Amino acid sequence: MTAQNPRKILVTSALPYANGSIHLGHLLEYIQTDIWVRFQKLRGNECHYVCADDAHGTAIMLRAEKEGLTPEQQIARVKAEHEEDFAGFQIGFDNFHSTHSEENRHFSEEIYKACRDKGYIASRSIKQLYDPVKELFLADRYIKGECPNCGADDQYGDNCEACGATYTPAELKNPVSVISGATPVEKESEHYFFKLPEFQQFLREWTRSGTLQEGVANKLAEWLDSDLHEWDISRDAPYFGFEIPDAPGKYFYVWLDAPIGYMASFKNLCDKRGDIDFDEFWKKDSTAELYHFIGKDIINFHALFWPSMLTAAEYRTPTAVNAHGFVTVNGAKMSKSRGTFIKARTYLNHLNPTYLRYYFAAKLGSGVDDFDLNLEDFVQRVNSDLVNKLVNIASRTANFVYKAGGNLTTECAEPDMVADFINAGDQIADFYERREFGRAMREIMLLADRANEYIQEKAPWAMNKEQGRQQEVQDVCSVAINLFRQLITYLAPVLPEIADKTADFLNLDNLDWESRRNILLGHSINKFKPMLPRAEMDKVTAILEETKDELAKETGKTPDGKKDDKPAPQKSDKKDAKKSKNKGPELREDGNEVIADTIEFPDFAKVDLRIAKIVDASHVEGAEKLLQLTLDIGNGETRNVFSGIKAAYQPEDLKGKLTVMVANLAPRKMKFGLSEGMVLAAGPGGEDIFLLEPHEGAQPGMRVM
Ligand code: MSP
Ligand code: ZN
Repeated sequence: MTAQNPRKILVTSALPYANGSIHLGHLLEYIQTDIWVRFQKLRGNECHYVCADDAHGTAIMLRAEKEGLTPEQQIARVKAEHEEDFAGFQIGFDNFHSTHSEENRHFSEEIYKACRDKGYIASRSIKQLYDPVKELFLADRYIKGECPNCGADDQYGDNCEACGATYTPAELKNPVSVISGATPVEKESEHYFFKLPEFQQFLREWTRSGTLQEGVANKLAEWLDSDLHEWDISRDAPYFGFEIPDAPGKYFYVWLDAPIGYMASFKNLCDKRGDIDFDEFWKKDSTAELYHFIGKDIINFHALFWPSMLTAAEYRTPTAVNAHGFVTVNGAKMSKSRGTFIKARTYLNHLNPTYLRYYFAAKLGSGVDDFDLNLEDFVQRVNSDLVNKLVNIASRTANFVYKAGGNLTTECAEPDMVADFINAGDQIADFYERREFGRAMREIMLLADRANEYIQEKAPWAMNKEQGRQQEVQDVCSVAINLFRQLITYLAPVLPEIADKTADFLNLDNLDWESRRNILLGHSINKFKPMLPRAEMDKVTAILEETKDELAKETGKTPDGKKDDKPAPQKSDKKDAKKSKNKGPELREDGNEVIADTIEFPDFAKVDLRIAKIVDASHVEGAEKLLQLTLDIGNGETRNVFSGIKAAYQPEDLKGKLTVMVANLAPRKMKFGLSEGMVLAAGPGGEDIFLLEPHEGAQPGMRVM
């Protein structure tokens, strides 16, 4: 990157459905994207960040009806709410549009027609269950009945929550329409399909061309090696969406026009601004970069259908699709009854968004692992990093400068240290670029530690009390303020509010990445004002309580709140879908839930589980959670393992116990030494961790099967 040759980058986050509120799960994505975008802008690149509400589909139509609104009124109401929530978390969209827009109708029709004219659209009649009272075809999630396998009552149309069986809705016993209670009947209608199989070869190459994270590409490869199915892109009236141009009464399925909404939002931005060229970003051979940030549940739509449609219509394909994992709270899926299904608004009612932005950044990597928001760790981490380490650097030193006239010294007393801080910016930038935000934060906090050590060692507050050391005080504090400025520059993508406050405090126009190189000498600063209060655990408790209250207030829950329009693309052939259940990429079939990854037997077989005898256990100096264990794993072999069970066990109680360990885990170098394996335990954590203790005749070294 250079200012002379800025990259042109278009970035999107997935479009949130217009039938529900933004929650902390969504926010992981919008915050991740926003950080990356802010970083690009601070680097001097031309970067545009667009999003929109995903406004179409049956769920939204039914939701509007329930609220006594037209769909248009409903989506306008939700859009205003979403925009307010996003603003509250400082998500800096350049444009937030709607898929129910003229631009989107235009591009959806254009892309559809291009596909049709090239022979990529098929049509045929299919049979589906139909609600004769409501006069509506029923998606699986709108049908309930008895499980054909175990007989459990009140099961959804595609799988049984009691026994886990999967089936077609037609197989359910005594099915009813969830919408009207009527008994559904089978009815035929004409559907339109996108011929995905024609793109198999293209997709094999495209998914392997650096566009996807490796794990994601590997998962998709398994699908791409088996048969792809044609994708049903039409829905019958009544449906809230766009009518298909040459097929009256048929509508585009919401997932056809949703990704096209990215283009539509960008077009809307171009028209508003007048200085961005739409084609430059979307034409077939565009050299601009295009990135989609999404959750791992919607990978198929972005990495199979979307690039195929774009190719068919002769548009460019994405530079990369960046998928992230799912948010869990305190180690478990977000749950309404536990109060952890936290809405953006509920959080904002109690806590500063800066905390969450930082915590997400601090623990985010570039992969698709799930993200655990541990609420105690959250409070502790933001206080120790942001309040104690970071802001403290300025709050302990600024006043000495301000009281002496407010000018930093004209010479830098620690040029080497300041140069180190400036140079660290290249490595940190590289981490941001690669979405390794956690590593960037670690690097920045190490620098903050160094700044604090320096201040602590010099102790300007003590010097200030001595005669004739005033210049030294100014030297030290001026260095500290310069270091603070470097750190805030590096954190500006994550903490825009703190960055703004710092720019005010330091009389700087901006905190662009390159501007950090100019050391502030003889520069006048303003009075330091507190930047961030401590996060308090009782505010977190209040959020959980308020969330539980919201649940209590919700009445007459209908499935539209529970399930969304996200079926598996291979759905048309149920048997096949079942067979490939563990093969395909993870799919979310339920708006609130994602199923844990399954592994194949060979993966399991790789794990070498052994009985181990704990021959020694001791505290580890300086470790909050760890105990050091010496394990006898038979045949005279011993292993050294660090295990995070300190809160649950006293070392002396462990000696002589048998436990189960993973014996072939690659050794890991930890701060305290090498850990050569892992002992298995269960429980929610903290004091409640239980080592697995086999006591019936087990011997050290025995294999666990
Ligand atoms: N409307 C579709 C996306 C269309 S994009 C052309 C959709 N909407 S959504 O509201 O259900 O989700 C929006 C984004 O938030 C998705 O990327 C989804 O993966 C993400 N998340 C929703 N719940 C989440 C968590 N609990 N954790 C992390 N991300 C989550 O899908
Ligand atoms: Zn069952």
